Amino acid sequence: MTKGILQFAHQLLKNTIQEGDTIIDATCGNGHDTVFLSKLAGKSGHVFGFDIQTEAITHTAKRLQEQSPHKNTTLIQDSHSNFLHHIPVDKLTRLGGAIFNLGYLPGGDKQIITKSDSTITAMEGIMTHLKPKGIIVLVIYHGHKGGKEEMQAIMKYARLLDQKQFAALYYGFINQKNNPPFILAIEKK
Ligand SMILES: C[S@@+](CC[C@H](N)C(=O)[O-])C[C@H]1O[C@@H](n2cnc3c(N)ncnc32)[C@H](O)[C@@H]1O
Repeated sequence: MTKGILQFAHQLLKNTIQEGDTIIDATCGNGHDTVFLSKLAGKSGHVFGFDIQTEAITHTAKRLQEQSPHKNTTLIQDSHSNFLHHIPVDKLTRLGGAIFNLGYLPGGDKQIITKSDSTITAMEGIMTHLKPKGIIVLVIYHGHKGGKEEMQAIMKYARLLDQKQFAALYYGFINQKNNPPFILAIEKK
């Protein structure tokens, strides 16, 4: 059976993350992915969630408190491109996966969007520190203003990755209207 985009994004992480792993939510937004990751990381793992907006960090903290049984998440109001400043070395060496849910905060300011430069800087850094078989899952929205530029830059970057080091996978529906989101997943070999 086919899976929806967000369902498939979560499935990829579920298949990959191991006990004790560190996971990054690069774009917390309203915290749906952060709650999922917190449950996935369990007692022994840890989640680092990033967002540049106070509103997103507040919503995510509330959702975590209400919906996750674990106290295993650190929320950071900063760009994901600065993730290295915030994750201690012992946690970084256990980095098993990351998710980027690109675009703007649903219900928030549509002018504040993820941008290709910081997204690619963060992706590169995460790819360097990922454990072998670790995965970055990007949910790419490209229907909004600025979305197409970011999508094109990311796809150009991913197509050029050395296939001996990384597997880059595309998953999306090709007959849906209105620029549906799709998944780009990058697995470290
Ligand atoms: C589509 S939303 C994320 C949705 C979220 N994953 C959820 O489950 O609700 C994108 C988020 O990325 C954030 N963002 C934009 N640029 C960022 C950056 N450089 N670093 C971290 N977050 C960023 C926005 O503030 C916005 O909240």
